[in-house]
Amino acid sequence: VNLDLDELDCHLQAAQDLILAYRRGLGDDPVLPGIAYHELARLLDEPLPIEGQGCEKALSAVKQLVIPGCTKVGHPRFLAWMNNSSCDAGILGEMINAGLAQVPFTFKGGKSATAIEHLTGRWFCQIFGLPEAATASFTGGGSLANLTALAVAREFQFPGAMQGGLPDGARTPRLYMSEQGHVSIERAAGLLGLGIRNIVRIATDASHRIDLQALEAAIRRDQAGGPGPFCVVAQAGSASVGAVDDIEALADLCADHQLWLHVDAAYGGAAILTERGKRLLAGIERADSITTDPHKWFSMPVEAGLVLFRNSNQLVETFLQSSCASYRGPMDEINLMNRGLQIAQAPKAFKVWFALKVHGLKKIRDCVEKDLGLAQHFAAEMAKRDGWELLNDVQLSTVCARFVPGRRDDGETDALQHRILERLEASGAALLSPVVVDGKVGIRVCFANHRTGQGDVEILVDALTRIAMEFCP
Ligand SMILES: Cc1ncc(COP(=O)(O)O)c(C=O)c1O
Repeated sequence: VNLDLDELDCHLQAAQDLILAYRRGLGDDPVLPGIAYHELARLLDEPLPIEGQGCEKALSAVKQLVIPGCTKVGHPRFLAWMNNSSCDAGILGEMINAGLAQVPFTFKGGKSATAIEHLTGRWFCQIFGLPEAATASFTGGGSLANLTALAVAREFQFPGAMQGGLPDGARTPRLYMSEQGHVSIERAAGLLGLGIRNIVRIATDASHRIDLQALEAAIRRDQAGGPGPFCVVAQAGSASVGAVDDIEALADLCADHQLWLHVDAAYGGAAILTERGKRLLAGIERADSITTDPHKWFSMPVEAGLVLFRNSNQLVETFLQSSCASYRGPMDEINLMNRGLQIAQAPKAFKVWFALKVHGLKKIRDCVEKDLGLAQHFAAEMAKRDGWELLNDVQLSTVCARFVPGRRDDGETDALQHRILERLEASGAALLSPVVVDGKVGIRVCFANHRTGQGDVEILVDALTRIAMEFCP
């Protein structure tokens, strides 16, 4: 199954032209193509190809059928989630990475790829101020990073759990996080046999930060009774409102009670590059583990998740307990398969390494700084508009707003937010997402897109206020 190398040259050129044309048009509206799923499924439908059709036909299918159905991820007003815009250098890195096709599950499967993974991981440990002994593991995303962190936390708080599960008669493990904690922590707790029900959700203050007194009271209550507290998960940029817990205070609390501190900075971690973020995330360097995703606010292509550990031995000791005997050897601790869940794997750090070399960290910091400013500006503008109220204290770059016509919040108000979003989406001007904050439906804008500028904020504010008025003139 090889292409003729001379023909490959032409196909690479055609693929390059196609990618370039697509990326040149990334800023054109609409953000979201109007096409419905059943229509796309019908257009793409064909029998399993037993005989190949050749590269030209496949490329033509991409042009005719795939590109018209592509969401313009990266459009300056694609602000729905946290994976809003990959930098072009990251994409170039990904293309080269695909071409080199390394399999660095052991050093021999990708020598330079392994070394790049370790180097890039060290860079991130440095960004977060972790000590020399710290280490990193790249994953497919934040969910896998959180799972990896909790697997290691479980092993070190319940020694032998990897081999024998939780011992019979052991106290029920208890993990604490605020009501803002991400669903991926629940999934991880479920998959690791800790149990979703054993997560204690702690109430938050008016800024959606964990209530420290309520947390300490819950820990003490459990210590006195049956369950066994083992871990606190701090939020450093919660998914719905971007709340950041008081990490310094949580680090003190975890030290006092000998609990594992994991910080979920999947989205908010990039804020550490800025002065404001450094203040908000103070104490993060004291965490036992940190999730932070290059594929979110660091502007790298998906999939690039990352988990950092203060103590590198803990990571390797957990995964080396179950490693492929045939690949074991003197380089065990550097082989990527011993540093996470996946055995076979593509290099995940390569695109991050490449893009950091191209742009440097300073450029990424400037984008994060810009997004923090845009969020404040957008929030201030919305607060001035009739009928709009803010649902969150804007700590990072996430703003949640709700339209309440005539200040009369009734049973229709939740549905109205969805209708505004639908109309905005249909206009092609922007893609935002719904959110529920303190039981109220709102509209969430996440400024984590390096292409978004001040002019886009004006367009967004105008579009939202115009659409809201169309519903309630
Ligand atoms: C705070 C937080 N943690 C974890 C995740 C999961 O990350 P991923 O979607 O990369 O699996 C997200 C995703 O939005 C998140 O916002």
